[in-house]
Amino acid sequence: MTKPRVFITRRIPAAGLDLILEHCEANIWEDELPPPKERLLEEVRGVQGLLSLLTDPIDEEVMDAAGPSLKVISNHAVGVDNVDVAAATARHIPVGHTPGILTETTADFAFGLLLAAARRIVEGDSCVRRGGWKTWGPTFMLGQDVHGATLGIVGFGRIGQAVARRALGFAMRVLYYDPHPKALPEDLIPHIQAVDFDVLLRESDFITLHTPLTPQTHHLFNDQAFEKMKPSAILVNTARGAVVDPQALYRALKSRRIAAAALDVTEPEPIPLDSPLLELDNLLITPHIASASHATRNKMARMAAENLLAGLRGERLPYCVNPEVYE
Ligand code: DGY
Repeated sequence: MTKPRVFITRRIPAAGLDLILEHCEANIWEDELPPPKERLLEEVRGVQGLLSLLTDPIDEEVMDAAGPSLKVISNHAVGVDNVDVAAATARHIPVGHTPGILTETTADFAFGLLLAAARRIVEGDSCVRRGGWKTWGPTFMLGQDVHGATLGIVGFGRIGQAVARRALGFAMRVLYYDPHPKALPEDLIPHIQAVDFDVLLRESDFITLHTPLTPQTHHLFNDQAFEKMKPSAILVNTARGAVVDPQALYRALKSRRIAAAALDVTEPEPIPLDSPLLELDNLLITPHIASASHATRNKMARMAAENLLAGLRGERLPYCVNPEVYE
């Protein structure tokens, strides 16, 4: 029996890849960088399955280039803002993603960024290395306390809730804003407070973003939002870069309208090396690695493979973002 043909836009961990190779004729894009659009259009021609990463824009053009053979798109990420899900649904193509398994790993990292920005951990490391540690000083490298501070969480799904749990361990007051409230775990309810966006901006010492990128959340953090934040506030973004307007962030950080920001995601990605943001000493930045633990990336690869294989078999995807294709 001939195996289904699939295109995989980058080499993923063996935990998922081996499973795919067992059942499919797979063409893997071996480069470290994503396939350029014209190559993507060529490589998908006639495939039955497509496994994409968050760096690959999977739009109508790509789906049309694949043609009517395309039975499934499996995105190796929980976020699917790189996939035109409406276009896939219109073509009855199920789209898979990887929810749940990266929740705790991402929450660990978001909290790590928060602590690092508040207590100037990365700056401290650089200071020592460049010979700036002359002695212990009473006002040397002062930062902000995390314990007892108010944390504002924007987007209170799985990851937002996992960050809230960590914050409770630091005796923080936890506010959250979510325009699409989810069911809340019983044990969290007494310790958290739902507030309007403006209240969250005004009252939070730290704001952490855990919302998907949608037309509603695009540049949610703009000049108006920064204007309402405390001058001592620190913004943490491990969600999607475009939830924050980079120019407005630059203005807010440069003028010390807010104290600092810690970003794992930027708009665009990677951030250009000549971005003025990189000149600021009150910005801490990492290269979209919040989910990058060995265990989590293995689980993501496995889940993405399971979605792909289910779609190829004509079965319901275990983790499908557009279940309406089955109606
Ligand atoms: C995702 O899965 O959407 C994450 O951004 C990857 O870290």
